[in-house]
Amino acid sequence: MPLTINTQEYEITRRRFLKMAMITMGAVVIAGSGVSCASQPSSHSEVTTIDTPEFIFEKENHMKSRLLVTYATAAGSTVGVAEAIGKTIATSGYAVDVKPIKNNPSLKGYQAVILGSAVHGKRWLPEATEFVENHQEELKKLQVAAFCVHIMNLGTDEKSKKNRLTYLDPIRSLLPIVDEGYFAGRGVDPDTSTRFERFMAGLMQIPPGDKRDWEKIGAWADNVKIIE
Ligand SMILES: Cc1cc2nc3c(=O)[nH]c(=O)nc-3n(C[C@H](O)[C@H](O)[C@H](O)COP(=O)(O)O)c2cc1C
Repeated sequence: MPLTINTQEYEITRRRFLKMAMITMGAVVIAGSGVSCASQPSSHSEVTTIDTPEFIFEKENHMKSRLLVTYATAAGSTVGVAEAIGKTIATSGYAVDVKPIKNNPSLKGYQAVILGSAVHGKRWLPEATEFVENHQEELKKLQVAAFCVHIMNLGTDEKSKKNRLTYLDPIRSLLPIVDEGYFAGRGVDPDTSTRFERFMAGLMQIPPGDKRDWEKIGAWADNVKIIE
């Protein structure tokens, strides 16, 4: 199972990280004081609603069990990743439901669940972590695989690998994970992002553009360690 993606590596030096943290704290203070800044939508437009669709992939007379792929996204790129994973797994005979985590999907009737989230601030989105916290006992009885969609620490070197593995530390501390996938996502889209997201993207030097590697995603889904 490939854990690495052969894409350019983006690193933050300690000095730049501290600078970012200070500026971010400043932004939070300003936002908290009621001055409009941090969470304003992009320039001229209203807040763009990100579509979070559900999908069902199943062959007629599928031979294997039903799986759930559930995802959390901020700007939409994780939707396509979850969809691609669901579609690929279904080709090997499983029936697959793909659902957004924010709809708090039921876990009843599934033997295995694949959880995935965009990464913000080195962590899954809060709704994804909260889902695991809220369903920890149920999830512990299932096979759980997890994936991250992110844009930094994508390199094949040990440091990048070590850094990206920390994204799932809080989840690993809550339940065993049978398999992990780390996928390049998409840089901040000026049309759908908030001013805060664009501000953070600038600070973190998040590169623009869609870096999703459908071959890598499909290869991971094909080999995900779910035991029938
Ligand atoms: C505010 C913000 C914080 C981010 N923090 C990280 C991070 O800590 N590590 C990382 O690898 N990528 C980070 N990213 C990049 C996102 O993970 C990437 O753009 C991903 O494709 C977003 O998925 P989504 O489109 O489903 O929301 C961040 C992006 C934003 C806007």
